[in-house]
Amino acid sequence: MSLTHKKIILGVTGGIAAYKAAELCRLLVKAGAEVRVVMTAAAQQFVTPLTFQALSGQPVLTSLWEAASGDGMEHIHLSRTADLLLVAPASADFLARLAHGRADDLLTTLCLARTCPLAVAPALNREMWAAAATQRNLEQLHADDVNVLGPATGEQACGEIGLGRMLEASEIALALGALLASGPLVGKRVLITAGPTFEAIDPVRGLTNRSSGKMGYAVAQAAAEAGAAVCLVSGPTCLAPPAGVRRIDVQSAAEMRAAVLAELPCNVFIAVAAVADYRVDAAATQKIKKSAAPLTLQLIASPDILAEVAALPDAPFCVGFAAETERLDDYAEAKRLRKNLPLLVGNLAQDTLGQDTAELVLFDALGRHPLPRADKLTQARAVIHHVLTLLN
Ligand code: C5P
Repeated sequence: MSLTHKKIILGVTGGIAAYKAAELCRLLVKAGAEVRVVMTAAAQQFVTPLTFQALSGQPVLTSLWEAASGDGMEHIHLSRTADLLLVAPASADFLARLAHGRADDLLTTLCLARTCPLAVAPALNREMWAAAATQRNLEQLHADDVNVLGPATGEQACGEIGLGRMLEASEIALALGALLASGPLVGKRVLITAGPTFEAIDPVRGLTNRSSGKMGYAVAQAAAEAGAAVCLVSGPTCLAPPAGVRRIDVQSAAEMRAAVLAELPCNVFIAVAAVADYRVDAAATQKIKKSAAPLTLQLIASPDILAEVAALPDAPFCVGFAAETERLDDYAEAKRLRKNLPLLVGNLAQDTLGQDTAELVLFDALGRHPLPRADKLTQARAVIHHVLTLLN
């Protein structure tokens, strides 16, 4: 899910987590959003408006009276043009004022005047969070269709540990992506594996393969563009995750399997990873010393993650990828049937590995559908389009 060109009003209220809102502002701008910051008087005790002005590239609004320039209806104009209003951190006092429909400063007035969705990321001490009054206010906010993001559990600024911490900036940015998502996969969870796996031989050596991860990352981007909530379970690559995609880093096939199973259920599972087919039976705990004598390693088969997921009683829609070096049609279709997949994407390894372009053939119950050579993002979008056709 992309935040590109989304107009977001970021409300900052008074709490120590206001410093995290600076990082959030930076992340939203980096993701392509146009951010306009509104600060309450208390927020300015923690962070200066100048910080947010520098990060957002826009003047910061701090007062209802100061904003009343021109026709004096700045609060109405601002809220009308926004795609989303986010308050992070949202203090206990702000939540109370919001729940009661107060309009006693610029931020609460904007909330009341808005026509766009509203999200709040509470940041409270654990006792304040648990207080009956706060919980009553939250019930009201839920009833008013306010999206409450978090809070998280953990160490708090006061030194106590408990529920009330504001979510991390990256988690809030991801949640906003989901709230603002549009496209045919909105509301769907898509789980994707990508990259190679690395199977240790000893602490310094291992078995891996030549997957760059480019195809899997492109598929993750295409699924996010279509509005899905995307989780990318990635083996070691040097790629950055696409905007709005949640990435889980793994090394071995066993770790990839565990991460995939932990992320179920999902609607669509796309296994793009080049999972190492074998791992060393018992990896050495110390570095194996070199000698002139031949070294024999006992290899055992890795778990087949895709076959396992596809065989689940409530299996998601499963898509496989197969890189072959010869007889692509025979091997790919046989693999599709053996793993019980509605769709398998085949390619010749020598044509694709590590490159920015790929020539693919889609195999489904109706036969083969060639995709002539194109860059991997174009191919990934075509694969997602085909998934949508089959899903419908
Ligand atoms: O290795 P193979 O050609 O069987 O891979 C076909 C598909 O199965 C790919 O989508 C790959 O990600 C998946 N796979 C898997 N776990 C394995 C091997 C392959 O999920 N151990």
